Amino acid sequence: MAGSPRPRAAAEDGARIEAKVRAGLAPSPEFLSRLATVRAELVRSVTSAARDRGIPLARALIAGSAARGTFLTDRLDIDLFLLFPPALSREEMARAGLALGEAVLTSPERKYADHPYLRGWFQGFRVDAVPGYALTDPAQPISPVDRTPFHDEYLRARQGPEQVAEVRLLKQFLRTLGVYGAEVRTQGFSGYLVELLILEAGGFRALLEAARHWRIPVRLRPPAEDPPRLPEEVALILADPVDPHRNVGSALSRRNLAVFILAADAYLAAPHESWFRPRQLRPLFRADALARLERRGTEIVVVELARPDLVDDTLVPQVRRAERAIAEEAERQGYRLVGHASSVGPSRLLIGLEVESIVLPRIRRQEGPPAGIEHARRFLEKWTAPESGAVQGPYVTEEGRLAVEAPRPFPDLREGLAAALPRLSLGKNLAAPGGPGTVRPLAEVDESEELGELLRELLDKRLPWVPERPHRDGEPVRPGAARRR
Ligand code: CTP
Ligand code: MG
Repeated sequence: MAGSPRPRAAAEDGARIEAKVRAGLAPSPEFLSRLATVRAELVRSVTSAARDRGIPLARALIAGSAARGTFLTDRLDIDLFLLFPPALSREEMARAGLALGEAVLTSPERKYADHPYLRGWFQGFRVDAVPGYALTDPAQPISPVDRTPFHDEYLRARQGPEQVAEVRLLKQFLRTLGVYGAEVRTQGFSGYLVELLILEAGGFRALLEAARHWRIPVRLRPPAEDPPRLPEEVALILADPVDPHRNVGSALSRRNLAVFILAADAYLAAPHESWFRPRQLRPLFRADALARLERRGTEIVVVELARPDLVDDTLVPQVRRAERAIAEEAERQGYRLVGHASSVGPSRLLIGLEVESIVLPRIRRQEGPPAGIEHARRFLEKWTAPESGAVQGPYVTEEGRLAVEAPRPFPDLREGLAAALPRLSLGKNLAAPGGPGTVRPLAEVDESEELGELLRELLDKRLPWVPERPHRDGEPVRPGAARRR
C-alpha cells in the first residue's frame, strides 16, 4: 500500500461500503417468511414422524444460522437438531436420528462428524439433520452437538437486527479470505465464533479495529478464564459462554487467524467492495506449473498415497502429519525446501515438495569433533577403517575440527523419499494397504483436480487480496536486480 492512508476518508468509505454490502446480504422479507414457514413445517413433520414410528424424540429444533437469520443466503443450510433422552445409548441415538431424518428429508445422504448425521432436502431447502441429546447442562455434554440449543438461546437473548446484519458482513468478509468454516479442511472461523466475536466487539468495524493489533495466540478474555488443556498451537482463545471447558476458537488455525489480522489492517486502510466478493480459486495445470518451475529454477516431487476410506475429520489431520513428516525427512537428507503442500482426491492423496534441486552431489561433507576431545579418536577410527566408505579424508578444517567426505546415501530425492516412506510415521491409516506409495517428479504425475489444487498451493502462494504478479516467478529478471547470492 503506497503512502499512509487517510484514516478519516478510509473510515467514511468503509462505512458506505459496509452499508451497501450489508444491504446486499440481507435476505428479503419474503424469503425470511418462507423460511420461517418451512422451519415450522420441518419441526412439525419430524415430530409427527417420531410419534408415528414410536421413536422417543425429546425435542426437535432448528438451531444455527437459519434459526437466527445470520446465514449467507447463497450457502444456507437449515440445521435441524433431533434431541433424544440421555437414557439412549449413542448407537440408539444415532440410529433413531437417521431414521427420523430419512423419514422427512428427500435424497438424504449420510455424513459423519463426531457421529452420523443426514444431509438432504426439505421443500427446496438443504437440511442437515443432526441427532444429539436433550440435556439441562451444556457444560456436561454427552456428544459435542448437545451444546447447540444453548448456543441458540445465548445468542438470541443478546442479538438484535443490527448484530445479525454485522454477523453476515463478517461471514462474507471471512469467506472472501477463504477462512470461513470450522471444518478440518478449512480450519477457519465457525459460524458460532463469528457471532460471539460480533457480540464481543459490538460490530464488524470495531472488531477489525481491535483485530488489526492482535498477536497470536489471541485471548479475548483474561487468562484466568482460559478453558483447560489448550493445545500448544492454539490460535484464538475464547471460552464458550455456555461451556467454559470448551474453546470456541479450537478449530481455527494460526495461519488463518494471521490472514484475518493482516486483512483487518489492510481493509481498514483501503476499504473496497472487492473484500466482500469471493473469487473462485483456479487450479494450476501441470503444463503451467512445469513452465513456472523452469523459470524459477526449482523442481517438484510428488508423493502419492492411496486414500483410505475415512471421513475428513480423521483423514485430513493424518495427511497434514504425513506432509510434515515427508518435508522434514527431505530436509534431513540435505534437500532444500521452498515449500510443501498436500491435497486430498477421491482415491488418492498427494503430498508435494518444491525443492531447490531434486538431485544433490553424490558426496556429502560430515563435520566431526574438534581435536583434543575424547570423541575425536572414535571419529578417526570410524572413518579410517577400510569399510568406512570415506571418499575424502578424514582431514581437519581451518577451525581445527575433524571432517570427512562420504557418499550421500540418496543423491536423488525420489530415491531418498521412496526409501524413507516405509519408516516414516505417516499417520495411522496412511501407510497400508497397497504399499507405501509412489514418489515421482511432477512431469510424471497425471493431471487431476487434486494435482491442480496442490500446484496452486505450491506455486500461487499469496494473501487473497494481493494481486497476481504480472512478472511471475522472477521473470523477466531486470539486469542488476537483486538476486540471491
Ligand atoms: N456447532 C457446534 N460445534 C461445532 C459445529 C456446530 O457447537 N463443531 C453448533 C453451533 O451452535 C452452530 C450450530 O451447531 O451454531 C450449527 O452449525 P453450523 O451450521 O456449522 O454453523 P452456523 O452457525 O449455522 O453457521 P453457517 O451460517 O455457516 O451455517
Ligand atoms: Mg448452519
